[in-house]
Amino acid sequence: MNHDQTPLFDALHKHTTHLPVSFHVPGHKNGQILPEKARHYFQRMLPIDVTELTGLDDLHAPEDVIQEAESLLAAAYGVKESFFLVNGSTVGNLTMILASFNEEDMVFVQKNCHKSVLNALKLAKLQPVFIEPDYNHDWKVATGLSISSVEAAYQAYPEVKGIILTYPNYYGFTYDLKSIIEFCHAMDMVVLVDEAHGAHFIAGTPFPLSAVQLGADMVTQSAHKTLPAMTMASYLHLNSNRIDRQRVIFLLQALQSSSPSYPLMASLDLARSFIATYDKKDKDNLIMQRKAFLESLKHIDCIKVLTHTDNGDILKIVIQSTKGQSGFALQKKLEKAGVFPELADSHNVLLIFPLLKSDTEFDLNAISQRIKRAFLFPEEQTLPSNRSYPLPMNRKIYSCLSLNYREQAKKGKTFISLNQSIGRVSAEIIIPYPPGIPLVMEGEEITLGQIKELKQLIKLGARFHGGEYLHEQKIKVFE
Ligand SMILES: Cc1ncc(COP(=O)(O)O)c(C=O)c1O
Repeated sequence: MNHDQTPLFDALHKHTTHLPVSFHVPGHKNGQILPEKARHYFQRMLPIDVTELTGLDDLHAPEDVIQEAESLLAAAYGVKESFFLVNGSTVGNLTMILASFNEEDMVFVQKNCHKSVLNALKLAKLQPVFIEPDYNHDWKVATGLSISSVEAAYQAYPEVKGIILTYPNYYGFTYDLKSIIEFCHAMDMVVLVDEAHGAHFIAGTPFPLSAVQLGADMVTQSAHKTLPAMTMASYLHLNSNRIDRQRVIFLLQALQSSSPSYPLMASLDLARSFIATYDKKDKDNLIMQRKAFLESLKHIDCIKVLTHTDNGDILKIVIQSTKGQSGFALQKKLEKAGVFPELADSHNVLLIFPLLKSDTEFDLNAISQRIKRAFLFPEEQTLPSNRSYPLPMNRKIYSCLSLNYREQAKKGKTFISLNQSIGRVSAEIIIPYPPGIPLVMEGEEITLGQIKELKQLIKLGARFHGGEYLHEQKIKVFE
């Protein structure tokens, strides 16, 4: 198969060469009707921001260039069928979960999942059993599941119908997904994987194996996170007869726009071509450039740099302070120097290294000079030794919601102070954002550990989704 081909992008390009007159939506008419100040940015691209015109196919009933582009995508990832998504892995997770399970089904869920997984559980009215992830003490983050935790949960809940996993985590950690998939399939469970951060894994060593190669039934990937695709542009891969294809197709057209963006879809076509042609020369160059970049950061006094070697994503690089400063404080320094990281948490600043091809120009020398300047004047500050998850000694391997979704719908809600909330059932999801991984779940009994962490995050200046009255140290609970 020739992955230099980009059928959808080519069709759009061909369309523009005919100098077409637009008497159709969208209203910018190929970029001609546009506020003056926006022209510089928008005008070059808007001629391909068209609609389902003759020759440009239809995402929701593909039979021409979109079908060809999606077939090339499925071939690149080695799956039965692939779909372009124009609403992120968010819609990928919603579709996977709503298509695979029925109301009241019990499902295992890796606890450090994205909020879109929780929203899908609620919409599908499932009974989740959350499985606690392992914890990395150097990076101070929750990582992935161990096979022993999944086996233990299965002993307790053999009626479970499937498992929803996040692989890799935001910080590029992977885990023994193969054993988990094999075990779950042997127990007749459906395996869904949120691989939002791993669309590039298909390029092979030095990247970990992708969930599609390890036999997951369905996988969603945010192409826009690590591949050169536009924001929101994502993939959904269907790789199993365990899932009803018609249900998937129904959900994709129900949950996505009936006017999907052609620039987004074209960028998905280009991103597939990019990663499917990512060769040894590209990888050697990436490894060399990354090594030189890391080397240049080594000599900065007040920071330490953490990276992955085996089985983790080498694009993920974390900076920590050696002077007790929080990740948020480091992030501010970097931003002042014009370097914008992916995210900060209490301890880390996370950088996503670019997926360079051998011919990409990216001035890493100038960037490391800026990073050095950012950290010229370290201030001392002692960070409380907070951690997100309980230590292995006292951790609960799995837990259910204290109030299921049906019961939650019948209850009143009220705001109370954080201090009074321990032991009450939360009526809201509180999500430090980024990374978008819930700290408190709706329907979950609130613990002292969660309140301590919440208070610390507020103090350190974290941003949240949910938690309307956190600024007044209040949380919503069920009455
Ligand atoms: C693990 C994970 N899953 C899903 C998503 C949602 O992806 P998208 O932004 O493509 O909708 C994110 C976004 O950050 C994520 O980190």
